[in-house]
Amino acid sequence: MKIQIITLFPEMFTGVLGNSMLWKAADKGIVEYSFLNLRDFGLGLRKTVDDTPYGGGDGMLLRVDILAAAVEAAKTNDPEAVVILPTPRGETFLQSTAKATAAEGKGMIIICPRYEGYDERITKWVDKQYSIGNYVLTGGELPAMIVIDSVVRLLPGVLGGETSTEIESFQQDDQNIEFPQYTRPEEFQGMKVPDVLLTGHHAEIAKWRAGQSKKAD
Ligand code: 6GU
Repeated sequence: MKIQIITLFPEMFTGVLGNSMLWKAADKGIVEYSFLNLRDFGLGLRKTVDDTPYGGGDGMLLRVDILAAAVEAAKTNDPEAVVILPTPRGETFLQSTAKATAAEGKGMIIICPRYEGYDERITKWVDKQYSIGNYVLTGGELPAMIVIDSVVRLLPGVLGGETSTEIESFQQDDQNIEFPQYTRPEEFQGMKVPDVLLTGHHAEIAKWRAGQSKKAD
């Protein structure tokens, strides 16, 4: 899966994509991350990417011509890719969204908006608009990383087979949250591991775990 990220701040991704499972997925050749720096598509000597909003208002907006040029450049690398725009205006990104995206298996082109926003006309180039929740962020980079993390971990071969089927059973309806877990030491500062987990009684343990699973708010 080719994952192309259009951003003014590619360095923001270094730590997240360069470690642990997201890095391993790339090392195994399951995914390939690449960046298109929006600045490279900017106009004039100053490589301008933004301008003031028509109708007035605070701040600057990313220009549609700049964004469209970047998306089209990304499309030449992967014509079938899904173009994703992280925006508070989008539909909420859920576990079911991540599963569907991973199952479809198409490449992703993720546009990361900055400043006060973007010219709405770019949505003509966009397949999916996602919000990651009801709070305001400074840009699309963190949402992009969240989309990438949640999708890549579901791709075949990224997690161990057993782990992934276990997770699947907990992810039927976007609501189930896994039971709490414990490891050594058996007692720490007066806090004991629940007795049932020490019995070795698999049916009882499964029952306890089912009772401990929660629904998301
Ligand atoms: Cl996708 N972008 C920004 N800027 N803020 C958000 C968001 C996205 N989702 C929730 N808040």
